[in-house]
Amino acid sequence: MKINTIIVVGAGVMGRGIAYSTALSGYQTILVDVHAQQLADASTAISKLVQTGMGRGKVTASQAKHLEACLSTTLDVQQALSHADFVIEAVPEQRNLKKEILATVDQYAPAHAVIASNTSTISPTELGSYTSRPAQVAAMHFFNPVHRMKLVEIVRGLETSDKTIQLIQRLAENIGKETVHVRDFPGFVTSRISAMIGNEAFYMLQEGVASAADIDKAIRLGLHFPMGPLELGDLVGLDTRLNNLRYLHETLGEKFRPAPLLEQYVKAGRLGRKSGRGVYDYRNE
Ligand SMILES: NC(=O)c1ccc[n+]([C@@H]2O[C@H](COP(=O)([O-])OP(=O)(O)OC[C@H]3O[C@@H](n4cnc5c(N)ncnc54)[C@H](O)[C@@H]3O)[C@@H](O)[C@H]2O)c1
Repeated sequence: MKINTIIVVGAGVMGRGIAYSTALSGYQTILVDVHAQQLADASTAISKLVQTGMGRGKVTASQAKHLEACLSTTLDVQQALSHADFVIEAVPEQRNLKKEILATVDQYAPAHAVIASNTSTISPTELGSYTSRPAQVAAMHFFNPVHRMKLVEIVRGLETSDKTIQLIQRLAENIGKETVHVRDFPGFVTSRISAMIGNEAFYMLQEGVASAADIDKAIRLGLHFPMGPLELGDLVGLDTRLNNLRYLHETLGEKFRPAPLLEQYVKAGRLGRKSGRGVYDYRNE
């Protein structure tokens, strides 16, 4: 099957990055959201990426022009879905919300359309069961920031067909990504490790083991991670991180119990870079 049109559902941290990448590679891409402000912010962020990319010689003027022609945004989810060959779902990591969105996608997307979820943790078998086409559902897990991170983790559900996996593999390659194929297990490979390290860093912060800056510095310089776990949490979004941990706690047990301090930050609206403040303060950036 040839993919002409991709619908990205959810224009947050990930959806906007995914839409940028698919449109830059020449796919007609429609980015949808339920909040007009999110779509406006996504358009601004994508324009910035184009400008920076051009400044660094990574995006040519003709690619930028092509991207503009390929990418559109809308609040009309149903209308957008009617054009879909391929849907990438990137709404928050909450099971009930994913269930609701997948049912909508299933209802309005043409029968041939494949549905890939950018879920970080949730079983694609479960996500497929919320649709009438489980053979056409899998997880296609991108990383943040999408335009810079090379990997896509492809996770196949019990009913996912070979054809669906091949299509996702081809799309990932066409947008310049490397892939790994992972069995359906909560948290896959990357989110399970990342959630564990990020949560442990929050427990350390809560216990006063070191300052946030020193925890991050220790992990960067001592363990050679490109980013400290608390900085990474702020980039991911602390609400997203907490949702991941809640799912992993429910499915894999006690070792993933979210740190109370993380719960507190999220309650206070300190969600990380996207809200201006998380572990660190970004309001003057
Ligand atoms: N943030 C990360 O670093 C990261 C990395 C990999 C995967 N993920 C996964 O990607 C998914 C999205 O995460 P995010 O960080 O982009 O979340 P986010 O909160 O930044 O954005 C989610 C977007 O979905 C929109 N939305 C909510 N309900 C909707 C609906 N009914 N229809 C259409 N849009 C709706 C919201 O308005 C928001 O714009 C999650 O499953 C998350 O686990 C996140």
